[in-house]
Amino acid sequence: MSSYGISRYPDVKAVEARLETLTHTPIRTLGADRLAEYHAWYEQRTPASKQAAAEAEAVIPGGVQHNLALNDPWPLSVVRAEGAYLHDADGNRYIDFLQAGGPTVLGSNPPAVRAKVLELLEHCGPVTGMLHPAETRLAKLIHDFMPAVHKFRMLGSGTEAVMAAIRAARAHTGKAHIIKVGGAYHGWSDQVVYGLRIPGTGSLEAAGIPKTALANTAETAPGDLEALRARLAANAAEGGTAAVIVEPVGPESGTHPVTREFNAQVRELCDEFGTLLIFDEVVTGFRLGMGGAQGYYEVTPDLTVFGKCVAGGYPGAGGVGGREEVMAAFAGGLTAAGQRALTGGTLSANPLSCTAGYHTLLEMDRLDAPAKAGAAGDRLREGLDALIARYELPYVTYNFGSIVHLHTSGVLHLSLNDPEFFDKLGPRKDMLEHMSMAFAAEGVITLAGSRIYTSMADTDDVVDEALAAFERVFAKIQPA
Ligand SMILES: Cc1ncc(COP(=O)(O)O)c(C=O)c1O
Repeated sequence: MSSYGISRYPDVKAVEARLETLTHTPIRTLGADRLAEYHAWYEQRTPASKQAAAEAEAVIPGGVQHNLALNDPWPLSVVRAEGAYLHDADGNRYIDFLQAGGPTVLGSNPPAVRAKVLELLEHCGPVTGMLHPAETRLAKLIHDFMPAVHKFRMLGSGTEAVMAAIRAARAHTGKAHIIKVGGAYHGWSDQVVYGLRIPGTGSLEAAGIPKTALANTAETAPGDLEALRARLAANAAEGGTAAVIVEPVGPESGTHPVTREFNAQVRELCDEFGTLLIFDEVVTGFRLGMGGAQGYYEVTPDLTVFGKCVAGGYPGAGGVGGREEVMAAFAGGLTAAGQRALTGGTLSANPLSCTAGYHTLLEMDRLDAPAKAGAAGDRLREGLDALIARYELPYVTYNFGSIVHLHTSGVLHLSLNDPEFFDKLGPRKDMLEHMSMAFAAEGVITLAGSRIYTSMADTDDVVDEALAAFERVFAKIQPA
């Protein structure tokens, strides 16, 4: 079996200290003249994107269907994706460190997977509503990689899978409360739009969600086991906690990184309180290694949530798997009404998603993609560290293999306890958008300017090309 993508675990305490310093250091950003130069670049080089964005604006709320596509001064219209690169409608080429939000560990549009998908489309089409062999093949393969996933229910997205996991946990335990870690993103279903991005923000982003939907959701601060214990104890006095759900590398793919021991400690607490542990492996599932975060950390969750890689970057990417007794809550059929946790969907587990997922996972394993993507992440992070030192910038970078963090403004690490929180929020958010815009103009697309996903298509040459682009931006930062 292939290996894991993390060669060296970040020194979490040191990273936290540097992030803390970053949030208390004046921002180091691009001056107005540099921003004007970049805007001129977009005017000159991306007219087709500008036109496409104007047309989209008229019929799509906010002009984009997904926040990942946001870009200042306008979203880039990407019409071709291949390997390590994206190409826009004006013929500009960009290094793809967004990776569609994470699924493309093999690089974009790998021919081996595409061939299998086209073959399926030729003789079956994308959907029939009937049982297809690819469903079973995929479930078996996931079990081979993650033995704790005895059974697997395929769904349409990570969001749906989180909904299903929570429902199964409640059905199985008969308890209502759920606990998440502040800052984590578990999709956009009612009960988890709580404590998003900045820990401690509770229902700040819960527009359109009734308070009752969040009545049984609580967040605890990242890495804070004492707070988790206290919340579990408080919930125990009110009927108990059905599940604790974590992103295993820490909230927002490790934006708030957790120590190597954290997941095992959460597992122990869950066992003590009779609570299920849900690993949200939407990002880490297969990106960290074919055994996922659970294999890497050697911690067995009761339920695992899948997304992204599970359909190889094709649509319909979601699923939940886990222990036989818990997964029994999903048993199909009409007679079990009242006892089973209802899940499903017209297009869930369609032959196309399952075929793409199955062949993607096989390829990732055969090519040792998580380790290669992780090595690219290491090289990039080391290069970024050197640039940050050379230009004497307060920025912080660290990586979990192919999940690389580059925090320049510190906006995601502001604390609600900081008396200057609201003064800092706006300028730091603006800075992040400016950096993201500048990186793209220099030829590198990141995830919102602070996160970078590498793939096995990121050869040393690609990484060096990216580092040169980052350097061009860093060289333009205003002096302190
Ligand atoms: C950790 C995590 N969980 C859940 C989700 C939601 O998945 P989806 O966007 O497929 O609904 C995401 C999406 O980015 C995620 O990163």
